[in-house]
Amino acid sequence: MMKVLDTKLCLVLSVLCSVHFLVQFSHGGEDTIHRSQFPEGFLFGTSTSSYQIEGAYLEDGKGLTNWDVFSHTPGKIKHNDNGDIADDHYHRYLEDIELMSSLGVNAYRFSISWARILPRGIYGGINAKGIMFYNKIIDNLLLRGIEPFVTMHHHDLPQELEERYGGWLSPLIKRDFVHFAKICFESFGDRVKYWTTINEPNLFTEMAYVRGTYPPGHCSPPFGNCSVGNSDAEPLIAMHNALLSHAMAVHLYRNHFQAKQGGTVGIIANTFMYEPLRDEECDRLAADRALAFIIAWVFDPLVFGDYPIEMRNILGSRLPRFSSNEKSLIKGSLDFIGMNHYSTLYVKDCSCSACSSACSPAGDHAIRGFLETTGFRDGIPIGDLTGMPRFFVVPRGMEKIVDYMKTRYPNMPLFITENGYSAPPKQDAALHDFLQDFDRMKFHKAYLAALLRAIRKGADVRGYFIWSLMDNFEWVDGYGTRFGLYYVKRQTLERIPKISVKWFSSFLNFSTLTLENDLSKQDLKEQI
Ligand code: BGC
Repeated sequence: MMKVLDTKLCLVLSVLCSVHFLVQFSHGGEDTIHRSQFPEGFLFGTSTSSYQIEGAYLEDGKGLTNWDVFSHTPGKIKHNDNGDIADDHYHRYLEDIELMSSLGVNAYRFSISWARILPRGIYGGINAKGIMFYNKIIDNLLLRGIEPFVTMHHHDLPQELEERYGGWLSPLIKRDFVHFAKICFESFGDRVKYWTTINEPNLFTEMAYVRGTYPPGHCSPPFGNCSVGNSDAEPLIAMHNALLSHAMAVHLYRNHFQAKQGGTVGIIANTFMYEPLRDEECDRLAADRALAFIIAWVFDPLVFGDYPIEMRNILGSRLPRFSSNEKSLIKGSLDFIGMNHYSTLYVKDCSCSACSSACSPAGDHAIRGFLETTGFRDGIPIGDLTGMPRFFVVPRGMEKIVDYMKTRYPNMPLFITENGYSAPPKQDAALHDFLQDFDRMKFHKAYLAALLRAIRKGADVRGYFIWSLMDNFEWVDGYGTRFGLYYVKRQTLERIPKISVKWFSSFLNFSTLTLENDLSKQDLKEQI
């Protein structure tokens, strides 16, 4: 009896707190923002990737990917989770498209599983069922007025390419990637107007070849103790091959498809913002170096034809060189820039003798630009904590990173291809804790307001995608870290809307981000 009373009391208190929060939130200091304040034709969408949601890992002729193999290796993923079933999107894609349609988004970013359409890469044939699957997705999106925004490679590589020649470490990958891109353009390009070649080459090369936490799990000291790897050289080689693969695919598109199909092509990088840890010139320079070593590493070659000077100065001949033919191939091989932005970190210089004594052996390394990043200053986090140890809530970072991109790459159209929030872990969290995701709403509202400030200062931003439509396989964290607008019940795979679904669809449909109009008390009661 007491227990029942307790639960009722908790529910009542929880409703009161929620209502209090809404009132507070809607009258908060932040300006109200409206969809109509964003430029004409702005894309508002949700984002996912093949391995993280599709499942059906051995169905209908799909080949194995590097992630299938890696996640099946005991100890690599939290709780030994894997993407065998994931969100079962392969079978539930229609339901998921309906969810997006009811949200009111006008775009959806998803990726194509390379091994689903080319199970053995260039060494085998095309899998017609794989092509059919993506055709059905594209057609159903278009039927509902949702623009497909397609990424070709989002971390999952046919395993055969890894085994035959070492995947991204070999120049042979360029030929394979262009083959893959050609099949994509031929099969889907009549309907897809937004292509991105590769998701976050700067992140996956770090994870795969510096830290060894993504396949193929290479690393060397002081970054880690893997059985194979060279963390000083391999990430640079893999990036070199990825940039050339991108450029060759764009070359193909521009020469054979673009005029007829009328689409555009970009690439996506992981874009943290960096701030100096201390109020000192050396840290200010280190923060600039971090931007060059992590972000300009991807975009300088594709916009200007070579690696950033900041990198060449430190890495010298260790940084691969582009031949003059390659330079003309890569220079300008971008129609737009894709940015995944979640957070901001502090940067500490490790290059001067006074500062470097305080750096870890990894920070004190040329490949990292003699700098170290951290989320804490004197023990105080740079922003609210989230479910990811290096993601903090720092909305001002969105404005700053867009300013940076606008200044470094004038006139390039930008898309925020991912921005999202996962809550810090909470012991014994119940379903309603996940569903009442006010922190996620607050996060998006603040980041969107910051993005709007950058747009008003002249940045040519053309779209914003929430990561993610639904909770999914969060790489090495498995299913415990939840970024979705929809909660996915692991046992049944049922999709349950979180409060943020109501908020986002109100924003999309009624043009406002104040909450008092959007969420009634009744809504809240229904949720709990
Ligand atoms: C990746 C996503 C990932 C998200 C959250 C991005 O770096 O592109 O695949 O789920 O961050 O960690």
